[in-house]
Amino acid sequence: MADKSDGWYWSEEGVNFHTRKWVRPEDLNANGTLFGGSLLRWIDEEAAIYAILQMGNHRVVTKLISEINFEASALQGDLIEMGLTATRFGKTSLTMRAVVRNMITRERILTIEKIVFVNLDDEGRPTPHGYTDITYDRDRMPREHPGTGTIKLPSH
Ligand SMILES: CC(C)(COP(=O)(O)OP(=O)(O)OC[C@H]1O[C@@H](n2cnc3c(N)ncnc32)[C@H](O)[C@@H]1OP(=O)(O)O)[C@@H](O)C(=O)NCCC(=O)NCCS
Repeated sequence: MADKSDGWYWSEEGVNFHTRKWVRPEDLNANGTLFGGSLLRWIDEEAAIYAILQMGNHRVVTKLISEINFEASALQGDLIEMGLTATRFGKTSLTMRAVVRNMITRERILTIEKIVFVNLDDEGRPTPHGYTDITYDRDRMPREHPGTGTIKLPSH
């Protein structure tokens, strides 16, 4: 077990690191390091899942991704972990902060201060989500399956 004084447990307040990725050959750029586009795809997907679970709706879309600061890279075989936290609940939107770090080198790979997702209705228009704070549970899990429309999933 790592010692907390070694810097690995540095503070990323409120950020939960749920998802880990294994950097594979198809994720590399011509420089032989992690391709930024792969990383952004992973983050956008992670943010979409987070937004669905926070706003309780499958119909959420990326509205804005703020400046992306790539601080360090990763090599083939590295393990990286991604973390998100909600920083603002708007009326129809949710703003998140993202952090990605390299589990092998213990460097921070990037931070994104603002990722904004918007909650949509069936016509694709912004609609209020009605939430003001973070849930750490699965209590807002959407009940309707996006592919099957009106068929309700079992309650939980
Ligand atoms: C998402 C979309 C429906 C929003 O439409 P819109 O006309 O901007 O809607 P609104 O002006 O009502 O804004 C909706 C919310 O987004 C927020 N928003 C709009 N522009 C923003 C911006 N540039 N930065 C941050 N938040 C923004 C608004 O503040 C509002 O949030 P709030 O209700 O919590 O205050 C529309 O822009 C769209 O369809 N974009 C494409 C989304 C997409 O397809 N994404 C996938 C990547 S291609």
